[in-house]
Amino acid sequence: MKNLIFIGPPGCGKGTQSNILKDAKGYTHVSTGDLLRSEVSKGTDLGRKISDVMESGELVTDELVTELLKANIDLSSKQYIFDGFPRNVKQAEILDQILEGSDYSVIYFKVDVENLVGRITNRRVSSDGKHIYNLISNPPKEDGKCDQTGQFLIQREDDKEEVVRNRMDVYSRETEPMIDFYRSKNILEEVDAEKSIESVTEQIERVLN
Ligand code: AP5
Repeated sequence: MKNLIFIGPPGCGKGTQSNILKDAKGYTHVSTGDLLRSEVSKGTDLGRKISDVMESGELVTDELVTELLKANIDLSSKQYIFDGFPRNVKQAEILDQILEGSDYSVIYFKVDVENLVGRITNRRVSSDGKHIYNLISNPPKEDGKCDQTGQFLIQREDDKEEVVRNRMDVYSRETEPMIDFYRSKNILEEVDAEKSIESVTEQIERVLN
């Protein structure tokens, strides 16, 4: 089984598809956004600095996020879905080095960013951040409660509209150039992420087969 790298704009569905595929196929999901939020929840000085950056919609430094990633993966025994890393060309080069000798595919979630602001502002997550819902496209069975854990659903601080718009700008400026980096290596697989959650899963499964 190859490692997978999921890339695409905020709200394109990387976390949703990671959750589906890790259960269905036995991948380990590593999300740098989740790792950073976990650091924030510790309430340390570092956590407060990270929180300020995330709530502005900007990127945390490459050094910090790389260190966090490396401390949380074990490539000798697990196959990963990398979600949210890499985020720019420098991080893509770093991940290339980390994955040297391991096989991997890059899945690009192609979607018009203009359609994503509504998706993100309607996102709700379980209080531990692990389960993802959408008030319109993927609502919980019971209002405000996670189907799987019963936890309350919350809105991420960076899902407020003004922050979302900045995250989209950061994506265009920092992350989009990375798509050409992978395209030029001929390892980029595109999925149409405008489609339903089920259809996106099917497209990814076709790429894996
Ligand atoms: P991170 O947590 O990585 O956020 P993101 O990349 O912006 O992605 P999201 O989690 O917002 O969206 P997603 O693609 O996972 O979509 P989801 O599946 O939830 O990063 C947050 C911050 O951390 C960054 O801004 C930065 O500050 C920092 N950071 C993280 N990594 C970093 C790095 N490497 N370097 C530096 N800084 C870093 O879906 C979204 C919504 O849509 C949900 O409501 C879902 O139910 C719904 N949905 C999903 N698929 C569909 C579909 N097909 N149709 C309709 N609705 C759908």
